[in-house]
Amino acid sequence: MNRMQFYVTTPIYYVNDRAHIGHIYTTTIADVVARYHRLRGRDTFFLTGTDEHAAKVADAAAERGKTAQQWADENAASFQETFARLGMSHDDFIRTSQDRHKQRVLRYVRELLECGDVYAGEYEGWYDAGQEEYITENKARELDYKSPITGRPLVRKRERNYFFRLSAYADALRQWLNDNPRAVLPEARRNEVLGRLGEGLNDVPISRTGTGGWGISVPGDAEQTIYVWIDALFNYLTTVDTDPRRHYWPADVHFIGKDILWFHAVIWPAVLMALGRRPGFEWVKLPRCVYAHSFWIAEGMKMSKTMGNFIDLEKIDAYIAEFGLDALRHFLTIEGPLGNTDGDFAHARFIEIYNSELANTLGNCISRVCNMAGRYLDGALPAAPEDGAECREAADRAAAAAVEHYEALALDRAGESAIELVRAVDAYIERTQPFKLARDPAKKDEVGAILARCAEALRIATVLLWPILPNKMAEAWARLGCADYAAALTDRGRGRLDDWLAWGQLPEGTRITQGPALFPRHQEAK
Ligand code: MSP
Repeated sequence: MNRMQFYVTTPIYYVNDRAHIGHIYTTTIADVVARYHRLRGRDTFFLTGTDEHAAKVADAAAERGKTAQQWADENAASFQETFARLGMSHDDFIRTSQDRHKQRVLRYVRELLECGDVYAGEYEGWYDAGQEEYITENKARELDYKSPITGRPLVRKRERNYFFRLSAYADALRQWLNDNPRAVLPEARRNEVLGRLGEGLNDVPISRTGTGGWGISVPGDAEQTIYVWIDALFNYLTTVDTDPRRHYWPADVHFIGKDILWFHAVIWPAVLMALGRRPGFEWVKLPRCVYAHSFWIAEGMKMSKTMGNFIDLEKIDAYIAEFGLDALRHFLTIEGPLGNTDGDFAHARFIEIYNSELANTLGNCISRVCNMAGRYLDGALPAAPEDGAECREAADRAAAAAVEHYEALALDRAGESAIELVRAVDAYIERTQPFKLARDPAKKDEVGAILARCAEALRIATVLLWPILPNKMAEAWARLGCADYAAALTDRGRGRLDDWLAWGQLPEGTRITQGPALFPRHQEAK
C-alpha cells in the first residue's frame, strides 16, 4: 500500500447509552490501526463520533423533561470524556446534530433528489404503532400479526416517504465486491453480502414522518425527516468534505460490528455511487474496505443488560484500575472478535494472557536485559554487532511479519509476531548465559555484545508493539535509550517505522536504565 494518507473510522454511536465494550472495542482497534499508520509516517485521519437523531433520543429526553439537543449534548460529552480518558487518538469527533454535518447532508440529498435517485413515493406495510416500526410481511405472519412487544394487533399503514433507488445499483455493487476482494472483510461477510445481493434489491425509504422535528428535514418538505441511518452514514463524508481534508477520501477502512453490515456494505456504497455521478462530486469514490468484526460475549454467554453480565464502562474501568490501560488494549486486540467468530471476555483468560505475554514475557525480558546492562556494563551499551546472530534474524523476521499483519488488519497476529521476537530474545539469553559469562572479567566484551543484541531486538519488538501498548512502550523506550521515538509520536505525531525497524539503531554508549516492572505479575486474591 503506497498511499501517503490513511483514513479510518468507527461507527458513530447512539447517544442514548454510555460507552460499553462494543463501543470501546471498535474504537480501540481503530486507534491501534491509526497509530500504526502514524508510526509508519502516513498522514492519518481517525474519526469517531455520535449518532444523535434517533427517535429514542427524543423520547428519552422528553421523559426527563429535556430537549433532545440537551440530552444529546450531555451524552455526547460523556462519550468524549470516556474516549479521552481511554487515550483514544481520534483526530475529530463528529456529532450528527452539528451544523457542519447537517448542511452537507442537505446538499447531498438535494443532489440525489435532483438526479432522481431519491424520489417521493408511498410505503405500505405492517406497522407496530407502539414500536414505531414497520414489520416485513414474512415476519408479520410469523408473529400472527401482533406486536411482539405490546401484543396489540399490527396495523396496515401507508406513508408518503422518500425512497433511494437502491434497486438500480445491484449490478454495480456486485461488480464492486467481485473486483475488490478486500472491499468487505472478513471474507465470510463478503460472501454473506454477495449471497443476499443475489436475492435482488428493493428501493429503500430514506425519510420518516412524525419525528417531532428532531433530525434533518428533507429539502423542500418540512414534514419529512431524513431517516437516521442515512443521516448517520453520511458522517464519514461530511467530516472530511472540506478543502484541507478532502484528500483523505475514500476511507481506507470503516470498522463496524457485524450487525450493521448491510447498511455499510450495500446501502452506503450505493449512495456513494449515486452521489459520485453528480457534477462536482467525482472525487466521491467507494471506501476501500468495510471491516465487520464479530461480537464479544462474556464468560461464554451472550451479554445482556437484564442478565447483568454486560461488560459496561464500570467493569472496563475496574480492569484498567487493576491491570492498566495498555493491558486492556492488548487483551481486546489479541483476543477480540476481529474474525468471523465471537470473542469471549473471560476473566481467567484475561489474567492468563496478561501474565504469560505481558508480565512473564515482554515486561520480564525488558527488566532482565536492562538489569544485566546495569549490573555488568554500568548501563552503557556497546554497539550491537552486525553479524547474523539469531537475534537479528528473529528481529528481521518479526518486523516483516508484523508489518504485513498490520497492513492486512490482522492486529492479533501483528501483536503475536512482536511477542515471538521477545521469546526469541529470551531463548538467546538462555542459550548464551550472559549472567554466567559475567563472572569472568575477561568476557566483558562478549557479555556486552550479547546484551547489545538483546537490547536491539527488544527495541524493535517495542516499536512493533507501540500501536497496541502506546503508554508502556514509551516507558520501555525511555529505558532502552530511545525516548526520542515517544517524543516524535506525541500528539498524533508521525514516526519513521522503516528506520526504526532497521538493525543497529542504538549507538555505542547508549544509556540503559532500570525501573519498576512494566507489567507486574498478577496474583488472584484468594
Ligand atoms: N448508530 C449506529 C451506527 C451508525 S454508523 C453510521 C449504531 N450505534 S450503536 O451505538 O448501537 O453501536 C455501536 C457498535 O457497537 C456497533 O458497531 C455494534 O456492532 C457494536 N457492538 C454492540 N454490541 C457489541 C458486542 N457485544 N461486541 C462487539 N461489538 C458490539 O449501531
